Amino acid sequence: MRFSLPIFDIRNLSLQIANQTILKNISLQIFEGEYVAIIGPNGGGKTTFARTLLGLQKPTSGEVLIYGKPIEQFKNWEKIGYVPQRATLTDKNFPATALDIVKMGRLANKGFFAFYNEEDNNKVQEAMEKMSVWQLRERLIGELSGGQRQRVMIARALASDPSVLILDEPNTGVDIISQKIFYDLLRELHTNDHITILFITHDIGVIADDITKLITINQTAQVCTSPKEALSCEDMSKLYGVQAHLLANHRKGDIC
Ligand SMILES: Nc1ncnc2c1ncn2[C@@H]1O[C@H](COP(=O)(O)OP(=O)(O)O)[C@@H](O)[C@H]1O
Ligand SMILES: [Mg+2]
Repeated sequence: MRFSLPIFDIRNLSLQIANQTILKNISLQIFEGEYVAIIGPNGGGKTTFARTLLGLQKPTSGEVLIYGKPIEQFKNWEKIGYVPQRATLTDKNFPATALDIVKMGRLANKGFFAFYNEEDNNKVQEAMEKMSVWQLRERLIGELSGGQRQRVMIARALASDPSVLILDEPNTGVDIISQKIFYDLLRELHTNDHITILFITHDIGVIADDITKLITINQTAQVCTSPKEALSCEDMSKLYGVQAHLLANHRKGDIC
């Protein structure tokens, strides 16, 4: 596979909050067509890192370029789909249907006060069908199972027709079977729809065969372009605090 355009070009990024160093001197690039897994210990800065890529958190120093543009000048946010951490843990009585939630994903494509047009509705349906939740469209989001809610949140991110999908630990509260379906869907989005994927996760062993790059974040970032090698390194779990059983999951024979 060939990667050409860097979608994210992160240069010497550092971030402090109230004198606490959260991210330190991170430089890396994410290219079109990649499937990147981001791992690291809790509190290591993964969510903060993702938020800096989305312009939600301003770095203290360094810069982020998106499609070659300084982030302040980047306007095509509909190209970037984001599923935040804990997005699936919704209040049972939250007054929105699955369809309402996914329609919100089209907001970035629309002008202010414009009604949803046919294209919006088609994209919403397409995203929901892809995630197998179209049949759940009239149900309240809070009534759905963890796995169904997870797929609705991904459909919302897909509704804007993004080139990149950033997922921050979307598996919380989701059963094993739903997770398996979810990993298969991610693989399809990457290989069939050519969506670049940045996936913050602890379940690295399960997707080891799918990913093209592994980034470990614990204040600083370490990039590994041959993920399988990294996963077979005995220091990996010690260094980054990722529980060994997660690394070993499904890949027991490969762990040294
Ligand atoms: N808005 C904030 N204010 C204060 N501290 C924060 C804020 N956001 C993140 N942090 C701190 O930054 C560190 C990294 O957090 P986070 O990015 O959530 O890590 P991870 O996603 O890897 O678990 C933690 O110590 C957290 O307490
Ligand atoms: Mg986090």
